[in-house]
Amino acid sequence: MVFHVLTLFPEMIEGCMQTSITGRAIEKGLLTLDVRNIRDYTLDKHGKVDDYTYGGGAGMLMQAQPVYDAWNSIPGKGIRTIYLTPQGRTFDQKMAADFASEEELIFLCGHYEGIDERVLEETVTDYVSIGDYVLTGGELPAMVMMDTISRLLPGVLHNDDSADTESFQNGLLEYPQYSRPEEWHGKKVPAILLSGDHKKVDEWRLEQSEKRTQERRPDLYEAYMEQKRLYEEQHPPKRRKK
Ligand code: ADE
Repeated sequence: MVFHVLTLFPEMIEGCMQTSITGRAIEKGLLTLDVRNIRDYTLDKHGKVDDYTYGGGAGMLMQAQPVYDAWNSIPGKGIRTIYLTPQGRTFDQKMAADFASEEELIFLCGHYEGIDERVLEETVTDYVSIGDYVLTGGELPAMVMMDTISRLLPGVLHNDDSADTESFQNGLLEYPQYSRPEEWHGKKVPAILLSGDHKKVDEWRLEQSEKRTQERRPDLYEAYMEQKRLYEEQHPPKRRKK
């Protein structure tokens, strides 16, 4: 996977992405990070990339020319271009899986009051928000997306299993987990987890996931139960022959 990032703050992206699991994925060649500073593409001799908005209003807008030239400098055609904006579709695990199937992605990070509409029309394929709140720029949302997408790529996590089993993969939150010691602050690890009976452990974990989702995310639980109902309707239990 190649992540191209267009930003006015390349050091923010590089510092974060070269750390921890994504950093290791870059070292292993599973991920390539290509960060381009939009300011390097301005034709303005003072390095200016923003200007006042037509029609008035507070704040500055990023101009079309440097953004377009930065975008155009990326080799290859037809690469999905994501613009991070509170006006986009809300990012979720399903969207992450869809993006993870691409070979390259471009993230366009805006600052100030946003970017001239005309260049967005010519470059952006996907408008994405990470939630209903307003940040100062698109860098943090781009990093949230790249982190989420990275861990779905084959080989990025040590244990390929863990990307499948955890929260959201089956529409449920993850079950509680425990490590050594067996007792801490008077609290014991649930006995079933020490039993060695894998079938029972799996059943217990599913039960815990359902309970936790119902308590903490009733909206997700509702959707999960609806899926379950549909599945059971389409796969009724077979009657035994007499
Ligand atoms: N830029 C500013 N706020 C944002 C948000 N919530 N999601 C995506 N991009 C943004």
